[in-house]
Amino acid sequence: MSQLFLATRNPKKIEELRRILATAIPGSGVLGLDDVTAYDEPAETESTFEGNALIKARAGLAATGLPSLADDSGLCVDALNGMPGVLSARWGGAAKDDAANNRLLLEQLVDVPDDRRGATFRCAVAFCRPGGGEDVVFGDMRGRIIREQRGTGGFGYDVVFVPEGETRTSAEMPADEKDAISHRGTSLRAVAPLVAAAVSARRGALG
Ligand code: IMP
Repeated sequence: MSQLFLATRNPKKIEELRRILATAIPGSGVLGLDDVTAYDEPAETESTFEGNALIKARAGLAATGLPSLADDSGLCVDALNGMPGVLSARWGGAAKDDAANNRLLLEQLVDVPDDRRGATFRCAVAFCRPGGGEDVVFGDMRGRIIREQRGTGGFGYDVVFVPEGETRTSAEMPADEKDAISHRGTSLRAVAPLVAAAVSARRGALG
C-alpha cells in the first residue's frame, strides 16, 4: 500500500482526503498526526494560507519521510478587508472557540448592509514530495455572512455562512453537499492528480 501523510489531527479532514483519493489512487493509505511518531509541530507563523500550509507539509515530510500534505484555511470577509483570514481560528480570543468567533464576527458586521456582506472561505493545500518538489493548490467558496446562526452541521463559521446560490448555511447542508462545493473539497480534488502522479512514480522507483 502507498502511504501518504496529512499533517492534521482532524478526523473529518483525513476522511475527506481518503474519500477523494480512493478513486484517484486506489490502494493508498492516509495517515494523520495521531498515526505517526510524535514530532515538534511547527507554529503557523506565516501571514498567508499558502505559507502556513507549506510550513506544516514540510515538517510532515521531514518527520515521516512520506509524501506529505497539509492544509490551511479560513474566512475572508469583504467588509473586514479580508480578515479574519489566517487568524480565523482565534478571531474571538486565544482559545479556538467557534462560538466566540461567530459572536465577534456578527457584532463587527452589525451595521454592514445586506449587499456588502460577501465573504470567501479559502483553503491552501501544500504537497511536499520525498526527494524534492512542492506544490500548492487553492480552493475558494464564495458566499455571504447572515445576521444570525443557523444549522448544526460543519464547524467554525458554517453557522453564519450561506454559499452563493444557496439559501441554507453550510451548517445546514449535508456533509457531502458541502464537500462538493467547499474550499477544502475543491483544493483536495485539485491536488489528487498531483499526489496520484507522485505515488505512481514512487511505486515505479521502489519496484
Ligand atoms: P483550519 O485551517 O482547519 O485550522 O481552519 C482555520 C479556521 O478557519 C477554523 O478554525 C474555522 O474557524 C475556519 N474555517 C476553515 N474552514 C472552515 C469551514 O469549512 N467552515 C467553517 N469554518 C471554517
